[in-house]
Amino acid sequence: MCVCFLQVYGMCVRLLLRCVLFFLVSLPFLQSKDVTMVIGEVGGAVTIRCTSDLLENPLIFMYVQRPGSDGNHPQFINGYHMKKNLDPKEYANRTLVDYKQRTMKLWSILPSDEGLYECHIHYQTKNNQENIQLNVTANYSIPIVTVACDSGSCLVTCSSNSGYPLRDIEWSPNPPLNQSHWREVNSSEVRDPVSMLFSVFSSISVNCSSGLRLNLSCAVWGALSQEHTVCWPQTGSPDVYVTCAVVAGAVALLCFLLAGLFVFKERKARAARVDQDGEEAASPVERVQLTSRNPDS
Ligand SMILES: *[C@@H]1O[C@H](CO)[C@@H](O)[C@H](O)[C@H]1NC(C)=O
Ligand SMILES: *[C@@H]1O[C@H](CO)[C@@H](O)[C@H](O)[C@H]1NC(C)=O
Ligand SMILES: *[C@@H]1O[C@H](CO)[C@@H](O)[C@H](O)[C@H]1NC(C)=O
Ligand SMILES: *[C@@H]1O[C@H](CO)[C@@H](O)[C@H](O)[C@H]1NC(C)=O
Ligand SMILES: *[C@@H]1O[C@H](CO)[C@@H](O)[C@H](O)[C@H]1NC(C)=O
Ligand SMILES: *[C@@H]1O[C@H](CO)[C@@H](O)[C@H](O)[C@H]1NC(C)=O
Ligand SMILES: *[C@@H]1O[C@H](CO)[C@@H](O)[C@H](O)[C@H]1NC(C)=O
Repeated sequence: MCVCFLQVYGMCVRLLLRCVLFFLVSLPFLQSKDVTMVIGEVGGAVTIRCTSDLLENPLIFMYVQRPGSDGNHPQFINGYHMKKNLDPKEYANRTLVDYKQRTMKLWSILPSDEGLYECHIHYQTKNNQENIQLNVTANYSIPIVTVACDSGSCLVTCSSNSGYPLRDIEWSPNPPLNQSHWREVNSSEVRDPVSMLFSVFSSISVNCSSGLRLNLSCAVWGALSQEHTVCWPQTGSPDVYVTCAVVAGAVALLCFLLAGLFVFKERKARAARVDQDGEEAASPVERVQLTSRNPDS
């Protein structure tokens, strides 16, 4: 009796363990089967695969739809029915269903195509549903950098456009610097109402007063700008100061010498004139004196 109970107990434990093991092993598959991820580029194409179970026959119908935002009111995209023609409406020129492969191709992808898709398949003997998440990307353009410097600081702006989804601009100072030398003064994004793509913009102020010379580049999600050198020569590097000092010194010396020469010549000329004037002024007196003295002597 006791042995029998132990045997039953042991069997139960083993069964339970097997159940737990099975659950743990199948969990990742259950999760990954839940939603399949597909990534498409704006303007490109993707293939939405409904199922790999191609041998299940016969197929009555299959169709792809997008669930409504409220969970109801799904939007029919395209499909196939054994006996009926289905009308894909606005997707007529952008989708093609291959019912043999159980796929739907979607092209000329738009940002608004991003989201969840459901594929429903109806066989004679069973139904099937597959969920597909389509994510859309568009590469940002190579960022354009502009630099405007005044005394002591530079305003550097970076802009890039036609990207999706929204991404931040990242600044890369070279040599790497912490934020004590620069700060972001403005950043913004604009969404084109037609293409729904983003343009991003960021401007930073760099403090040049410590005499640093900096190479800057910016990047948006893999699109990297050219490097731009800032704080030079606007704040002046040592060699600019030296050149300025030498030129200024030379000019000052030249001015001094010229001035000296001018003064010297002027003095000499005046002295000569004074000498001449003295002779002319003195001579009549002398002559008078001489003439007046003459009769006495
Ligand atoms: C599909 O293309 C045809 C011919 O190019 C055009 O006449 C029709 O308007 C297009 N339909 C849609 C929904 O864009
Ligand atoms: C896919 O797009 C959704 C928004 O539609 C977003 O929440 C999710 O993070 C994206 N996944 C990836 C891997 O980019
Ligand atoms: C977008 O960028 C990726 C990675 O840099 C590249 O593989 C892809 O070809 C680019 N797409 C376009 C349309 O330029
Ligand atoms: C930035 O780096 C300098 C030295 O390179 C350091 O003296 C300063 O404390 C740092 N500032 C911050 C905010 O980390
Ligand atoms: C930030 O940039 C935007 C777009 O260029 C501009 O409209 C706005 O006036 C700027 N703001 C400041 C504080 O500079
Ligand atoms: C720039 O940095 C210097 C010190 O290196 C500081 O005295 C000055 O206030 C800073 N200027 C600005 C505009 O932050
Ligand atoms: C900055 O760029 C200039 C010119 O491209 C280059 O000569 C210099 O080595 C660069 N400086 C650093 C720190 O990379």
